[in-house]
Amino acid sequence: MNLIDGKKIASEIKAEIAAEVKEMVAQGHRPPHLAAIIVGHDGASETYVGHKEKGCAEVGFKSTIIRFEEDATEAELLATIKKFNEDPEVDGFIVQLPLPKHIDENKVIEAIDPKKDVDGFHPTNVGRMMIGLPSYISATPFGIMELLKRYKIETAGKHAVVIGRSNIVGRPMANLLSQKGYPGDCTVTVCHSRTKNLKEVCHSADIIIAALGAPEFVTAEMVKEGAVVIDVGITRVKSETSKSGWKLLGDVKFDEVAPKCSYITPVPGGVGATTIVALLTNTLKACKKEIYK
Ligand SMILES: NC(=O)c1ccc[n+]([C@@H]2O[C@H](COP(=O)([O-])OP(=O)(O)OC[C@H]3O[C@@H](n4cnc5c(N)ncnc54)[C@H](OP(=O)(O)O)[C@@H]3O)[C@@H](O)[C@H]2O)c1
Repeated sequence: MNLIDGKKIASEIKAEIAAEVKEMVAQGHRPPHLAAIIVGHDGASETYVGHKEKGCAEVGFKSTIIRFEEDATEAELLATIKKFNEDPEVDGFIVQLPLPKHIDENKVIEAIDPKKDVDGFHPTNVGRMMIGLPSYISATPFGIMELLKRYKIETAGKHAVVIGRSNIVGRPMANLLSQKGYPGDCTVTVCHSRTKNLKEVCHSADIIIAALGAPEFVTAEMVKEGAVVIDVGITRVKSETSKSGWKLLGDVKFDEVAPKCSYITPVPGGVGATTIVALLTNTLKACKKEIYK
């Protein structure tokens, strides 16, 4: 069994980005600039935005955070988005989700200029990704594709089973794995809460992407010998043994599944560790006008 080390891969990618930024700056270019908008004081959102700010500092990007109170209006938020869309000094920006209920998330996402949509959530970027055009790929699928690539995991002709069909993980993952070229060319089955015989379907998989949000759902009997298992799930559960009083569980029962796998990602330290580098990679691409010329 080989453990896929997401932290190590994330450090590698950050080092590559930092080297490129250093070179750009040495040649007189300004550093890439990522901006973030956060509304309210949701703990998890604050943590994510904090990680993004730290990630920018590590690779030499400029970062800006605009904070709104919970009662900010949709119009105020849209006005800031317009400002960022028009600002040539901002290469890419994100609006941290979820937003308060009185703000229409779809309207906000669609207001972002696709050229600056480094989260890859705008329908233009999602559509371009679906038909194999250059696009900003969203964080989690990007991270998983990088892990497969950098661990040189064979994908051509493999049966990949994706459990979950959400817009941010399951669907894009299934699409990317089915695309022509490496790391794609898989035969993909997408499973969801209405799937029948899920255990049997999983057992026929060469690659399992577990993204359903049910802790320790995938057990040893569902996994065939030698399978590659990518655990996307993160659920916070109470723990009497940890100092903080809680721990993170993945969607895979790691201890019993790992011995059967050729490769497996841990939780934490697997997929989650790579998500921030997606944003940094997309911002660098935006700065270099690599996706939209
Ligand atoms: N590592 C990371 O960086 C990262 C990033 C994003 C998400 N996550 C984690 O990944 C997990 C999934 O996130 P998400 O946003 O995709 O979740 P989501 O929007 O809740 O989607 C869950 C999907 O799983 C399916 N599902 C739920 N229970 C199932 C079951 N018993 N059998 C088969 N399918 C089932 C659902 O089916 P239906 O469509 O039929 O309801 C749905 O398609 C969560 O734990 C989340 O915290 C981690």
